Amino acid sequence: MAAAALCVLVTGGAGYIGSHTVLQLLLHGYKTVVIDNLDNSSEVAITRVSQLAGDHAHNLAFHKMDIRDKHALEQLFASTKFDAVIHFAGLKAVGESVHKPLMYYNNNIIGTITLLEVMAAYECKKLVFSSSATVYGWPKEVPCTEEFPLSAANPYGRTKLMIEDICRDMYASDFNWKFILLRYFNPIGAHPSGQIGEDPRGIPNNLMPFIQQVAVGRQPALQVFGTDYSTKDGTGVRDYIHVVDLAEGHTAALKKLSDPKIGCEVYNLGTGKGTSVLEIVTAFEKASGKNIPLVKTGRRPGDAEIVYASTAKAERELNWKAKYGIEEMCRDQWNWAIKNPYGYQTKETR
Ligand code: NAD
Ligand code: UFG
Repeated sequence: MAAAALCVLVTGGAGYIGSHTVLQLLLHGYKTVVIDNLDNSSEVAITRVSQLAGDHAHNLAFHKMDIRDKHALEQLFASTKFDAVIHFAGLKAVGESVHKPLMYYNNNIIGTITLLEVMAAYECKKLVFSSSATVYGWPKEVPCTEEFPLSAANPYGRTKLMIEDICRDMYASDFNWKFILLRYFNPIGAHPSGQIGEDPRGIPNNLMPFIQQVAVGRQPALQVFGTDYSTKDGTGVRDYIHVVDLAEGHTAALKKLSDPKIGCEVYNLGTGKGTSVLEIVTAFEKASGKNIPLVKTGRRPGDAEIVYASTAKAERELNWKAKYGIEEMCRDQWNWAIKNPYGYQTKETR
């Protein structure tokens, strides 16, 4: 008899990384229950994931729910036995977190504590958490290994660090817990179908969504934040990773959670390669055939100079490695952009 499919709860699964991960989970045969309050996403993403999942679509369920709603979470856990949780739900805009710290602590910290309390009550003790390379601050050297000292420069980063610490403390208190903390580097790109992708609300803070909006005429020019860094061309260097590779990193992490030796482990998810702002612009221009006008301005406060991952631990222990390069990331970003210039909405509804 075939083993029953494992059932995974995905918080924030309607969002950018969540939607791509949910699709990969379905394609790998997992039953997947998504909860999302749709604060920074659209239910259309779930409909599109379901279409892309084809024969696996019957394994997908969606509930509009806030992770801080303990009663609703309890009802969900009472009705469904989850083998593991992947926890994406959270607010993620660095600048906004500086202006609205309580909103970030309330959503990210209280949300996570509520989730962990309900998981504990229902004996579901396996969690994959979305951490971030932001916990490396301004690294003294690169590539960043998981053992580097941790710091946070803003309330958003502090929520990531605090949640990592909460997970470490939970594990220390009860070895039945299993945690995988994934530190993402810079996810970009979209599913190659062009049906799901990143759809930021308002003016984008991050490089790639901004470039995309310049290319489709929604913004006049890209501001290049800093041209005097000690890098190949003076602009900031990051480790961009295709969102589909990142999504696959989560299926690898889920498998790892079944390893009896795992306790609370941290893995970088990046490519190990550094790319400058100007290199990304050139690659995107090539992929799209569009000219991206640039305005060179000063450094953005709080930005690090060079950040890229050591991928050795994830390769060795998760048996996972990113497959796509910058060219494919830009190709798929552009495919998503031309098919959905206003994201999941139209010019009229946005
Ligand atoms: P996203 O905003 O697209 O997805 C987050 C989802 O969580 C959204 O759909 C949002 O509606 C939902 N959500 C937020 N608060 C919620 C709550 N209280 N209850 C229920 N749902 C809630 O962001 P993303 O880029 O997909 O990021 C996913 C996770 O990865 C976040 O935790 C983020 O901090 C982390 N991360 C993202 C990046 C990045 O560059 N995108 C980098 C490192 C880490
Ligand atoms: N940049 C520009 N112009 C822009 C936006 C960005 O020149 O309009 C530059 C930045 O200065 C930086 C690079 O492009 O050198 C990348 O910037 P992003 O804002 O896209 O990404 P960051 O590395 O600054 O931060 C992002 C997320 C963080 C997360 C981190 C690591 O915003 O939350 O990746 O995962 F922690």
